[in-house]
Amino acid sequence: MAALFQSRRRFIFALIAWGAALAGLWRFLQPRPVAKRELVSTPLNSIPTEGALVFREERVAIARGRDGIYAFSLVCTHLGCTVSVTAEGIFCPCHGSRFDHEGKVVRGPATRPLERLNAEVRGDRLFVSS
Ligand code: FES
Repeated sequence: MAALFQSRRRFIFALIAWGAALAGLWRFLQPRPVAKRELVSTPLNSIPTEGALVFREERVAIARGRDGIYAFSLVCTHLGCTVSVTAEGIFCPCHGSRFDHEGKVVRGPATRPLERLNAEVRGDRLFVSS
């Protein structure tokens, strides 16, 4: 180790090399931003005041709640089946999990709520993205 730092020049070179290596490692360890993916867009007046607007193919539902319009994924948080939205609530046909109208778990085996999606009003349309 002492031989590495015999001269000031070698010390500075080692310092720069270690700095570059640490900078590269830091950049490698940083999480990469995930691009938002637009899933559906719909006119605001198509969203019912009761129940939900369901996009089965995109596995997205949009509903109106006390705090405004919200969107959630129809992918069951247990093993990924597509849940069904009914007047009684949301249920998964695969293993019987039930969720309330906001996607919170009422009965397992699912333990996590349905994923909330980004819902953004632009003009007279609602855009839902993941
Ligand atoms: S995949 Fe929905 S309960 Fe298992």
